[in-house]
Amino acid sequence: MKNIAKTKDNAKVQSKKSKPKKNAKPSKPDLIKEMGVTRMTNKHPTIRKLKRQYPTSIHGNKFWSSSYLLMDYLNDNPPKKKTRILDLGCGWGLTSIYCTKTFGCTVTGVDADKDVFPYLDAHAELNDVTIGTLHRKFEKLDVKTLSNYDLIIGGDICFWDSLNDTLFKLFKRAKKAGVKKAVIADPQRQPFIDLCARLDDHFTHEVWDWELPEPTPADGDILVVNFKKS
Ligand SMILES: C[S@@+](CC[C@H](N)C(=O)[O-])C[C@H]1O[C@@H](n2cnc3c(N)ncnc32)[C@H](O)[C@@H]1O
Repeated sequence: MKNIAKTKDNAKVQSKKSKPKKNAKPSKPDLIKEMGVTRMTNKHPTIRKLKRQYPTSIHGNKFWSSSYLLMDYLNDNPPKKKTRILDLGCGWGLTSIYCTKTFGCTVTGVDADKDVFPYLDAHAELNDVTIGTLHRKFEKLDVKTLSNYDLIIGGDICFWDSLNDTLFKLFKRAKKAGVKKAVIADPQRQPFIDLCARLDDHFTHEVWDWELPEPTPADGDILVVNFKKS
């Protein structure tokens, strides 16, 4: 049977299924390697399977481009080898993987949504690294737990008004715990902007306007809190 398609004016024409259209878009890849980290796109069979099995609930449904801002900042300001890092709201864990692969840091990804961890584990395996995981809310990260880390990082984790207060209190506990720094990337969401303003009277910090034209374009702010000098 022939394939018959209709043109706008309804005339019947024979479609040429076997030949690619002249300006057909190339199909999207299911693996992308950027900043030395390989990630799976939504097309990848593993991601399709995980999405059926583990529907995430707090925006951990994809990697967010703020992670690339964070990676780029850390590329310019590299942590020392073996720095103990806690990746707040790690989601799929790409920044955790980057810090492990690139700098030889020991990274734990913490997230309130346990359903993000199968995505993190799949990416860690793909990139041949080991990432620790901790299923916990920011609110429940106590001084004792935080004292196990030198650096806390996070990409796009201040997207609700309530998270402003949650992170402010977390910074206070981090300082008490002896954490040296926090580096948080954000696409300039209002709760994050409010958080930065609120830090003025309490912590030594800087906010950098950060832009990454490629490979995946991203722009936003990088907040650096220096607990040692606060
Ligand atoms: C927008 S996603 C960003 C994920 C990842 N950092 C990235 O850049 O791709 C926010 C992540 O924060 C987590 N999260 C939100 N609120 C949290 C809380 N109160 N405690 C711990 N994790 C939280 C979500 O489950 C989600 O994985």
